[in-house]
Amino acid sequence: MVKFSRWFSPLSLIVVLAIALWSISVGWEITQALEPIAQLTNEDNPRFEAGRSMYIETCGSCHIPIPPEVLPIETWKKLLEKPNDHYGTSVPNVIRLSQLLIWDYVKTFSRPLSTDEPKPFYVGQSRYFKALHPRVKFTEPITNKNCIVCHPGVKDFDFRSLTPEWENSP
Ligand code: HEC
Ligand code: HEC
Repeated sequence: MVKFSRWFSPLSLIVVLAIALWSISVGWEITQALEPIAQLTNEDNPRFEAGRSMYIETCGSCHIPIPPEVLPIETWKKLLEKPNDHYGTSVPNVIRLSQLLIWDYVKTFSRPLSTDEPKPFYVGQSRYFKALHPRVKFTEPITNKNCIVCHPGVKDFDFRSLTPEWENSP
């Protein structure tokens, strides 16, 4: 007969195993439950591919395509609703389909304003732009033309890559 110590009886072994199995299954369920959220906020999700490329095509010909997260949802909504009243010019080729696809993309990757907060129509006025730049003290005026000074991947719509001096600074 195998002898078990007081703390290692077959019963306690079963309890430990049951707890382990339970926590694994709960952990797995939580992961499953969170999966759609993780996918939703992932830029590379195929769900937004059409909207993203339509955005780059429609909104990236006169100036760089501005990444959605730097401006609030309300600003994007207004810009998409009024393509013919666009900073003194008009955005061509905004049909209902492109409007919907672009809207689906930009609204997913931007945040709402608080009520009563004025809509910023320039990146430099947006608190979301500032929040995304905790390390940067901007000395030059911020425009869509100087993002490239620090973001060498602008032409590929890549705002994650930085120039070496920013990449390597604390
Ligand atoms: C026909 C040319 C043209 C197209 C196409 C165009 N824009 Fe613009 N956009 C402008 C001009 C002109 C300005 C004024 C600022 C400037 O000179 O860059 C501007 C400015 C902006 C700004 C403010 C930029 C800043 O520096 O703060 C945003 C945001 C913007 N556009 C979004 C869009 C979106 C969204 C689309 C697609 C629906 C779009 N643009 C397509 C001409 C265009
Ligand atoms: C003076 C350098 C500089 C300029 C100019 C600049 N950025 Fe940045 N940007 C950074 C740095 C550095 C970070 C990383 C966050 C930090 O360290 O503050 C960053 C982060 C970002 C992020 C977040 C990237 C991520 O990891 O998800 C976005 C989006 C972004 N910038 C967009 C822009 C846009 C759009 C412009 C132009 C209107 C711009 N930036 C101009 C330096 C700059």
